[in-house]
Order: sequence, then C-alpha cells, then structure tokens
Amino acid sequence: MTDTYAHLVNQGLGRNVAKRLGLPQPAVLRRYRPGQPLITGPIVVQGNTPGADNLAAELLSWDLDVRRHAVPKEKLGAIIVVLDDVARPEDLGKPVLAAAASLRDLGPGGRIITVSRPASDAATPAQAAARQGVDGLLRSLAKELRAGATGNGLLLAPNVETTSPGALAAVRFFLSGRSAFVDGQFLTVSTAAGEPPRNVEKPLEGRIAVVTGAARGIGAAIARTLHRDGATMVLVDIPAAGDHLAEVANEVKGTALQLDITRDDAGQRILEHAVQRHGRLDIMVHNAGITRDKLLANMDESRWNSVIQVNIAAQLRINEALLASEHFRSSPRIVSVASTSGIAGNRGQTNYAASKGGVVGMVRATAPLIAAHGGSINAVAPGFIETEMTARIPFALREVGRRLNSLQQGGQPADVAETIAFLASDAAGGINGEVLRVCGQNLVGA
Ligand code: NAI
Repeated sequence: MTDTYAHLVNQGLGRNVAKRLGLPQPAVLRRYRPGQPLITGPIVVQGNTPGADNLAAELLSWDLDVRRHAVPKEKLGAIIVVLDDVARPEDLGKPVLAAAASLRDLGPGGRIITVSRPASDAATPAQAAARQGVDGLLRSLAKELRAGATGNGLLLAPNVETTSPGALAAVRFFLSGRSAFVDGQFLTVSTAAGEPPRNVEKPLEGRIAVVTGAARGIGAAIARTLHRDGATMVLVDIPAAGDHLAEVANEVKGTALQLDITRDDAGQRILEHAVQRHGRLDIMVHNAGITRDKLLANMDESRWNSVIQVNIAAQLRINEALLASEHFRSSPRIVSVASTSGIAGNRGQTNYAASKGGVVGMVRATAPLIAAHGGSINAVAPGFIETEMTARIPFALREVGRRLNSLQQGGQPADVAETIAFLASDAAGGINGEVLRVCGQNLVGA
C-alpha cells in the first residue's frame, strides 16, 4: 500500500502547499540498506559518568565520529544522553540542557538516545522521581523532533553496564536505519547476557528461524529480513496460502511448511520440519494473526474464538512444545507480534486486543522459563503498518490512523521485520520479556 500524500508532500510544490496550510509533512525516513554506514554525522555523548566515558570509548572503537562536547553549528547524527547516575530530579537539568543546546544541529533522520536506569530499582523516592522523569522527558522530546529524527531510551538494570552486549546491541539498533519507525520508546536491558555480534552485516548467520504467517504482509517481510541477516528460513502458513508461501520460500532460499498453527500438534510439526532439515531450531517468530472486528455488543462466538485461537492460544501451545524440546536449546529466541491495540485498546477490536494483550502477558511470563535455557522471548507491537490488512480500512479512518503518530505516516512491514531481527540476534540476549512498539510514537490511547 503506498502513501500517495506522503509522496506528494516530498515534492517541491506539494511541500510548499502543505507548509502553507499547516498540513502534516511526513519525512522520508532513514531506513537500513546493507552496507550503509550506521549513522551519518558525529555522535555527541553527553554525561560525565564512567558509564558515559565507557560508552563513548566503545562507540569510538566502532569507527564512529564521537564527541564529548558539541561544536556549535556542526550537523549531528545523534545525541546520546547518559543519565545512569541521577539521584534527584535536580540532577537532570545540566546534562539535558547541554543536549538541548545541540538539538537544532541534529540532522535529518537523526537520533536521540537516553541511557538511564529503571525507576522500579531506585533506592530512594528522589532517585525514582529522577529516573521516572527521564521517561516523561524522552517521550515529550520525541514529539518535538522533525525531519524523520527519533528519540528512544535505554533502561539498564542494576547489574547491566552501558557497554554490556544487550545495551550496545540496543544502541546500535536505535542509531541505525533499522529502527526508522521506532520512536518515543523505552527498552529495558535486564541482564548482561548476550554476545557482541561476530558479523554486524549478518547478525543471524548460522541460525535456523521459523516465521508463521509468512506468505504475505509483515510475515513475508520478516522472512526476507531474517534471510538477509544470514538466517536459514522455515516459512509457515495455511495450506490455502500455499502458492504465495512457496514463492516467498523460494525467494529466501528457505523451505515452506503448510500448516494451520491452531492444530494441536502444530509445535510438534514445526519442530519435526526444522529438525529433519537442519538438526535444530533457534528462532521462532510468531507473526500469523487475524482480525474479526465487531463492536462487543455485536460480537459472536466464532469471531471471538477464532481470533483468540490464532493470535494467542496457538502461540502458547507451540511455545510449550518448543520449550520442552532438546532441539530448541542453542540460545533460543522467540519473538511474537503483538499490536498497539492490545496495549492502548481500539474500538471494534475487543477480541483482537484481548488476544494481543494476551501476547504481552505470555511474553512476560515465559521470559524466566526460556532464560533457564539461555534464551529470550520478546514482542513487538506494531502500530499502523502499510499492509493489505490496513488497506482494507475505509479511506478517512485510514488517513487518521496513519497520520496520528509523531512521524505522521504509516510504517512499512520491513520496519517491524528489522525490529524482530534485532530482538532475535545473539547480541540482544540481555533483553528478555520486553514489548517494543514499532508505531512511530502512535498518539492513540495509553
Ligand atoms: P496479513 O493478514 O497480511 O497476513 C497474515 C498471515 O497469517 C497470512 O498469510 C495468513 O494466511 C496467515 N495466517 C492466518 N491464520 C493462520 C493460521 N491459523 N495458521 C497459519 N497462518 C495463518 O497480516 P499482516 O498485516 O501482515 O499482520 C501480521 C501480524 O502483524 C499479525 O499478527 C497482525 O495482527 C500484526 N499486526 C499488524 C498490523 C498492521 O498494521 N498491519 C498492526 C499491528 C499488528
């Protein structure tokens, strides 16, 4: 689905008209292409803590142009504000205002990243206030950024350093074009687990990955992205989608498994397929999902049950089979596709939101179980993504849905896929039980 309006306002005349009438001016987002630099322009690391020093030194070792102080009027690629030792709300002012002084120099597609610690681990009410203050600050700042720039925050658990593998993996993701549609979000790194990437261009090399609902839409994009990042792919979809599934499987040099994931033995079938061909399974991506929208007053049993079965009950059963299997033991990763509807709610989607809220609950509760095998489970929650599903929304509603976010446009299936590839990587091992929104900082609801 193309966004004709965004295309028009990025041409000379359209841009002028939109500006004069005060209409949304969605920028062309900086998206990842293999071989492109991580970011263009210097990165300023603000903050005077050992954590800030160590992070700056690490980024220098990536051959990035790193500054501890901004040079006025120099176009910047990113500003990282390290606030890992704030003890009182008054401590925020100095580093934050130092970053503020260079905000006008942030280039198109620039990045703001805060690095702080969760308020829930604070030792005193004043420290909790300072830490929670970062949340309000970052979410507001992200709404002030322009020209496709985004702001996101990293929360480091007590035993996690700014240079722990998971923290560095998240910094790399947020700096890169892979996070183009992730905006105004926080990601917690809960442990120092994970390994530095051996090959940053192919972070999934040697990994065996399954993606459900892979015949089209977001699932096909996930298959392409994981394949591009080096994974060997197994693609699952219902038999009725068999032709499309075979096409995508050929394209990514993977294999196709025609399977309805609501079957009782779906987990077993997936394992058998992967083990017969590859000896094991490393990455499970639960993407298949359906909508059967109706106001709750008009909801029937079949609409309610089918959505619950496909979107959450099947995932629970498949996970149970995988977690019990000795063939899912090599730094296993599960990534599920939730939805902002399951977090903020959406009119006409009580069944869908119950299922997607269910995904969030399932991910959080499964995190300690998979951690026991050295693995992780996380979810991504897409907002408005340009797919066949959203193309079916009536025009006026669709226009509202796609503009009501800080980036004033819908995301692409590839934006969801990039976030999944990041969470599935070895380096992201310290990120477990998290839900990361890919929604351009959707303004609707919670
Ligand atoms: P889609 O409808 O284009 O594709 C879904 C795929 O899942 C289809 O190929 C379908 O055949 C397959 N599938 C459905 N039931 C299945 C079953 N029982 N067994 C195996 N495969 C099955 O949907 P889209 O837009 O690509 O969405 C993918 C995921 O992203 C879904 O979980 C959806 O809820 C979620 N999502 C999508 C958003 C959007 O804006 N498009 C927003 C938020 C979440």
